[in-house]
Amino acid sequence: MEITYRFAVPGDAAQLLDYLKTVGRESDNLTFGAEGLPISLEQETKYLESLQNDPCNQMFLALDGEKIVGNSSLNGSKRPRLAHRRELGITVLRDYWGRGVGSGLMERMINYAEETGAELITLAVRSDNLRAKALYRKYGFVPCGTWPGYFRIDGKYFDVDLMALRLTKAE
Ligand SMILES: CC(C)(COP(=O)(O)OP(=O)(O)OC[C@H]1O[C@@H](n2cnc3c(N)ncnc32)[C@H](O)[C@@H]1OP(=O)(O)O)[C@@H](O)C(=O)NCCC(=O)NCCS
Repeated sequence: MEITYRFAVPGDAAQLLDYLKTVGRESDNLTFGAEGLPISLEQETKYLESLQNDPCNQMFLALDGEKIVGNSSLNGSKRPRLAHRRELGITVLRDYWGRGVGSGLMERMINYAEETGAELITLAVRSDNLRAKALYRKYGFVPCGTWPGYFRIDGKYFDVDLMALRLTKAE
């Protein structure tokens, strides 16, 4: 298996929407389930277009041949008070878990965040998502709090942990 990595482009929109439905179905760790994201192909295409010249917001794909097997994103704000921060999200297709794809995406995101001037990466992860938390700790993320009952899935509530990675020694 040779996995390649690249930025997402507008032509990925259709496969990406299908991919998100699959990963949404495969775990209860995301902010959506099997329904995927509530957006149309046109909206997703426009969103991917908007990323092409935006250093604060970027999406990364992991591919096995032409097949998307992982995706991750960095989202930031252009507001001066928030422009040093990026929010991270990541998913890998279940068949590919434990094979280094998540790590490959993390390395590329962290490098990209550093190259584009970010000082802080933050994320929220379900408190019982041990695999993801191990991945984040491996890259230096530290826990910094809990949001109780952040997710409500089928009537049950789940906490999320907040984690952060400082890329510089910002005070
Ligand atoms: C979390 C996720 C992205 C990890 O991707 P992955 O491709 O399996 O990650 P990797 O193979 O690079 O493994 C990364 C680390 O996870 C940890 N890990 C691997 N298997 C594990 C297991 N069974 N239990 C706990 N930790 C495990 C290890 O620390 C591993 O690093 P190492 O092998 O170098 O020691 C993937 O499981 C996933 O998409 N899960 C569903 C969606 C999700 O939870 N996204 C995160 C939402 S916050």
